[in-house]
Amino acid sequence: MLSSIVKKGLLSNNLLARIPRYASTSGQQTVLVVLYEGGEAGKRNKNILGCVENALGLPKWIKENNLENRLKLVVTSDKQGENSVVEKTLPEASVVISQPFWPCYLDKTRIDKAKNLKLAITAGVGSDHVNLEAACKRGITVAEISGSNVVSVAEHVVMQMLALVRNFIPAYKQVINGEWDIAQIADKAYDLENKHIGTVAAGRIGLRVLQRLKPFNVHLHYYDKFRLDKSIEKDLNVKYHPNVESLVKECDIVTINCPLHPETEHMFNKKMISLMKKGSYLVNTARGKIIDRDALVDAIKSNHLEGYAGDVWYPQPASKDHPWRSMPRHAMTPHYSGTTLDAQARYAAGVKEILENWLNGRPQRDEYLIVDKGRVVSNAYTEGDATKGHSENK
Ligand code: NAI
Repeated sequence: MLSSIVKKGLLSNNLLARIPRYASTSGQQTVLVVLYEGGEAGKRNKNILGCVENALGLPKWIKENNLENRLKLVVTSDKQGENSVVEKTLPEASVVISQPFWPCYLDKTRIDKAKNLKLAITAGVGSDHVNLEAACKRGITVAEISGSNVVSVAEHVVMQMLALVRNFIPAYKQVINGEWDIAQIADKAYDLENKHIGTVAAGRIGLRVLQRLKPFNVHLHYYDKFRLDKSIEKDLNVKYHPNVESLVKECDIVTINCPLHPETEHMFNKKMISLMKKGSYLVNTARGKIIDRDALVDAIKSNHLEGYAGDVWYPQPASKDHPWRSMPRHAMTPHYSGTTLDAQARYAAGVKEILENWLNGRPQRDEYLIVDKGRVVSNAYTEGDATKGHSENK
């Protein structure tokens, strides 16, 4: 009915996208699930739900709920190149499920190709791998499992701060190499106590980082587009900064916890990094592209920054020769902070909840929605495209 009105020119496609559509789906829908390979660990450990082998528990869930006639699963890690399973499946996919740890970049070219796409689900938190602008224009819903792994990331941030400030990595390497040179390690080892630590963004993760740091008796700082409640500021004794520049000038350690979108892309460029205190540390578990890759390498090599840690890269997976792998004084990991086994159970359950609502024409939880009915509805994001620059489908 609606499509015939569109054909008659009575309603534009753009307006159609803005009409709430909670009708239940009919017919068999293709769900493209893009996950990392589990290898030996994935076969042995069924709790690694985020790998291809265990497919977020979806095959079992589909069987138990007799959904075989309604959902056709295509599960793959093959996302790069014209002949990849992703490229071949996109034209028929109604739903794409992907993960920040092994993102299926849904840029404009891919969204144009995915003519049937109605729902893009992030099995985790962070939907920057989807071109939100293009999703808005096409009326594609973008949803993620907000909150599912925020404790996991906050713990990782504190761990990486300690690894840097206490000079853990060189100390550990000495043990492996049969060495015992205390002065060499102590030369760059400090306590966290009394240091000034600031978070760029105090959303679910940033706030949890502040809460976990409070018992270390440090001086806390934050910047966010939105101010925390006065009672929280008072309880944490945290100083609010009106902009990032003001925060970085005062902090010995800076942690980044905002989403990637056009406003935050390369927020830490040469200029911003130059404003950071000499000898300070930077920890980024948010997204790799929030930092200018080469400006960071220069700042570490010139000793302006004492150390860098995080687990996010751009694009992902990081190439073997990515300069952050080999730069001095880093404590980086592959992207796994938000994918502990505890977190996996939570986001796998969230994916099923979203799919079930979608199949039955029920509304999604507000906090899970990033793009809905043609607009960005999460106030943590701005409309725009943060997928530029990857090369998966070239
Ligand atoms: P959230 O939505 O609870 O908080 C995001 C905060 O960022 C909000 O308070 C928002 O106001 C603030 N913000 C947005 N744009 C800003 C800007 N231009 N300047 C200052 N503040 C800004 O999100 P949550 O759960 O805290 O996650 C944050 C990000 O962390 C995710 O978007 C994702 O990129 C990343 N993440 C990384 C994971 C990992 O495994 N490494 C796992 C989960 C999230």
